[in-house]
Amino acid sequence: MGNNPVATPQYEYGVVKQFTVMTVIWGIVGMAVGVLIASQLAWPALNFDLPWLTYSRLRPLHTNAVIFAFGGCALMATSLYVVQRTCQTTLFAPGLAKFVFWGWQLVILAAAITLPLGFTSSKEYAELEWPIDILIAVVWVAYAVVFFGTIAKRTTSHIYVANWFYGAFIVTVALLHIVNSLAMPVSLFKSYSVYSGAIDAMVQWWYGHNAVGFFLTAGFLGMMYYFVPKQAGRPVYSYRLSIVHFWALISIYMWAGPHHLHYSALPDWAQSLGMVFSLVLLAPSWGGMINGIMTLSGAWEKLRDDPVIRFLIVALSFYGMSTFEGPMMSIKTVNALSHNTDWTVGHVHSGALGWVAMISIGSIYALVPWLYGKKQMHNVGLVNTHFWLATIGTVLYIASMWVAGISQGLMWRAVNPEDGSLTYTFIESIKATYPYYIVRAAGGLVFLSGMFLMAYNVFKTMTTPVTSTNTAAQPA
Ligand code: HEM
Ligand code: HEM
Repeated sequence: MGNNPVATPQYEYGVVKQFTVMTVIWGIVGMAVGVLIASQLAWPALNFDLPWLTYSRLRPLHTNAVIFAFGGCALMATSLYVVQRTCQTTLFAPGLAKFVFWGWQLVILAAAITLPLGFTSSKEYAELEWPIDILIAVVWVAYAVVFFGTIAKRTTSHIYVANWFYGAFIVTVALLHIVNSLAMPVSLFKSYSVYSGAIDAMVQWWYGHNAVGFFLTAGFLGMMYYFVPKQAGRPVYSYRLSIVHFWALISIYMWAGPHHLHYSALPDWAQSLGMVFSLVLLAPSWGGMINGIMTLSGAWEKLRDDPVIRFLIVALSFYGMSTFEGPMMSIKTVNALSHNTDWTVGHVHSGALGWVAMISIGSIYALVPWLYGKKQMHNVGLVNTHFWLATIGTVLYIASMWVAGISQGLMWRAVNPEDGSLTYTFIESIKATYPYYIVRAAGGLVFLSGMFLMAYNVFKTMTTPVTSTNTAAQPA
């Protein structure tokens, strides 16, 4: 598909296109389930008294669909594109890459069937039962072979920093998944974790936090380091900073997991260690954000003219916001207020919608025209509309959860000075939260509606015939 067949290798784009299409489809499915569960919290009758539509079963379906199906497909699409372009070579073992695509879709399908049926290991973000876990491990190793095989056969002398981030994401997720999922099967759909008690909790949150750090962060930073400079048509602000950013981020993330277990049976020193590493994590996180945003330095007008750039830069701003909020929430006294409240859920979605979804959406809007030999997306105006829907949806979501969460935290701890009894019953805090659940569901719906515009726009860009007016060479 190279525009200059003599000089350019014949890049393998089939699998990239497949993953790109599935990113949009799984994005819609995962977020639709998100809107449904958000609505169930406001209107519980929406579970229709059917066991497979209960909140407890759909919530893990939502988290698995958005993180592993939507996020996973976006990461696989972009990494398999970026590794070829930056190493200037075709994909290693393209047959295996096809297996990665179909294997990953099978994992998603298995999750979509088993979770509503109630099969679960009950470990958050690792709910899938052992046969699916084994399939994940096999597909992931195949993905690693394709990715690192391509790096090994590169024709360039150095390895561009985006690949470092993607590579760390691939290696670490394999490690996290295998260690945390170790279990003793008792039947085809039931197993028990090999860990127990506080050790189980620690392993689970070592996994959980590094899933945030490597699945939801490092991989998407790889995306950022390729698509921001490419779409802006400028080199990354500081290559040196990107290397410092990489090593600092990956070495600090590993130790921050205990901030999920404050005031628990975990030894106190481990909780404090988690808090300190979380605070230190602010520095590399902001280093990366600044590196991305400053890539536009001297070309700020692109922010006005190009809605794709706007997606990418606003994503970085939300990344900065959530990586400021996270360290604050890891301080034990702040966590005493925020833990178990909707503040955490708001923090999650400022990362998940504002950062992960927006950087993915922006990258795919950049990628689709390149893959299909077009100058730009079929309808750039619709990209702009999508940008505003995504931004407004995210802001409604996180602002409502801040208010809800802080109200809950304050109400739960309020005591009557006379006798030390609780000022509010639990149900009173739920009543106070109710209006914000409606605002959150509305915000989710606004965000989801933008995804439908995206599906239409991607479909039209893919299917409209190439003409002399709409075609353009891919950036080198
Ligand atoms: C239309 C967009 C979305 C809506 C309406 C939505 C809604 C929800 C709701 C209602 C919950 C349960 C909160 C609770 O139990 O109190 C939830 C949890 C969660 N969602 Fe979403 N979501 C959306 C998009 C996303 C995306 C794109 C991601 C990731 C990339 C994501 C990741 C998560 C995670 C990780 C949790 C678990 C949070 C926790 O345990 O604290 N969501 N979501
Ligand atoms: C410097 C970076 C960050 C730090 C130090 C941090 C810290 C925290 C803290 C303290 C909590 C609350 C734990 C609790 O009370 O239970 C939390 C929850 C969470 N954060 Fe972050 N955060 C950071 C960045 C992010 C980003 C960028 C994302 C998403 C892309 C994210 C996703 C999550 C999720 C999914 C949870 C909820 C986990 C659960 O309880 O299920 N975090 N984070």
